[in-house]
Amino acid sequence: MKLFLALAATAFVVLPSVQAAKEVFAHVIVGNVRSLDNADWEDNIKLAQEAKIDAFVLNIAQGDDGNEASLQTIFKAAENLNFKVFFSFDYKAKGPWPKEAVLDHITRFGASSAYFKTDEDKLFMSTFEGPDNAADWVDIKTATNSFFVPDWSSRNPADAVGLADGVADGLFSFDAWPNGDTNITTQADIAFQNALGNKAYMMAVSPWFYTNLNNPDFTKNWLWRGDELWDTRWAQVMEIQPEFVEILTWNDYGESHYIGPVREKELGLFATSAPIPYVENMSHDGWRKFLPFYIEQYKTGTAPAEFEEKVAAYYRTAPALACPDGGTTGNNEDFGEVEEPPQNLMDDSVFYGALLTSDKGVTVTVKIGENEQTGTFTTVPANGAGTPGVYRGSVPFGGNNGDVVVTISRDGQVVATAEGGKPLGATCEFDIQNWNAVAV
Ligand SMILES: *[C@@H]1O[C@H](CO)[C@@H](O)[C@H](O)[C@H]1NC(C)=O
Ligand SMILES: *[C@@H]1O[C@H](CO)[C@@H](O)[C@H](O)[C@H]1NC(C)=O
Repeated sequence: MKLFLALAATAFVVLPSVQAAKEVFAHVIVGNVRSLDNADWEDNIKLAQEAKIDAFVLNIAQGDDGNEASLQTIFKAAENLNFKVFFSFDYKAKGPWPKEAVLDHITRFGASSAYFKTDEDKLFMSTFEGPDNAADWVDIKTATNSFFVPDWSSRNPADAVGLADGVADGLFSFDAWPNGDTNITTQADIAFQNALGNKAYMMAVSPWFYTNLNNPDFTKNWLWRGDELWDTRWAQVMEIQPEFVEILTWNDYGESHYIGPVREKELGLFATSAPIPYVENMSHDGWRKFLPFYIEQYKTGTAPAEFEEKVAAYYRTAPALACPDGGTTGNNEDFGEVEEPPQNLMDDSVFYGALLTSDKGVTVTVKIGENEQTGTFTTVPANGAGTPGVYRGSVPFGGNNGDVVVTISRDGQVVATAEGGKPLGATCEFDIQNWNAVAV
């Protein structure tokens, strides 16, 4: 498990929880959206609604002078389209939120019909960090009738659940990426659930992680293994059955874990702070394809009776050793991990998933340029081969380059294709490796 600070043990109090319906949210970095207008937000919301996402979590940094205009635009678009949003107060990006500023935001925006509420009609509140300000929330909760699910991942779960006499109604864990060349496990999720007792657990699901930013405010340059992560994690959601799921993220381009569209005008950060434009033209749209299926399965406990069969694929756009690694480390010792060369954690492969009613009679072909490989399914749905769900596998780049097209056929008939992403290159486009992926 990843802890953002040192461990500390303390006693904790378990209060009766408010059981809410299962909900799926997506994390939005409001600091990235200054340039977006109403039409952009209506587009974002429609895409989220198509994916069956219930609400956007609005991460707001304290004192950011772009917040107010962005929030007005977002709430208006959400009201118009009958979508929901709620706040995650970021206590780390620009320092802790003063209690009065939190109260002011909740008072003004909590009255909107777009503000997300629990089944008990409480306003849903979250944070990014801020455990030292836990006591503020005793009054904030009372004054605003809120349901409070902070991310205090810098503390261990037992410590976090006990802060300010157990002020949290649940906890969000930001721990969404594996340590080393492994698949993520549910060990940390189970630790949270155990510490929480009958309080709510909000589980993080993320498709990728690569960041390479350098400016006066911060320097960060590492990756965590993203191969197989997205679909593995959704399978874990079905096992863990958390009260809430938060997708990390909709638009955090700087850490390459966006599942929303790449909008050129949101990429200003890269011009000033990144050695290469590692997000431009790197669509992640493919990571939304199976969400309606996954989300319905999570909410009902069984695979939907009817769904459209689809295929999705993701790959990096050059072999790992095609150019220097850019100083990017695999893992990060600030998280207590052993750093290793990034190519140890990332395979030069095209990963595909097929959402099928059954794999009976199904074949997979992966074309890279003129070369065609036949794929197999190495991972099948939890109920086994022949059952509805996502079937997965990968093929190596194998020295090929060009457009990537993954085709699923059944008894010779094409069922679905995934294509149209940036081509796989033989060499790097820039002087250092872009460790981001394309998802189609
Ligand atoms: C991850 O899990 C898949 C099965 O879902 C397996 O095929 C693969 O080998 C695992 N990868 C690693 C690095 O453990
Ligand atoms: C992105 O695509 C546009 C349009 O094809 C092109 O002009 C631009 O150079 C591309 N940028 C990168 C970084 O690939």
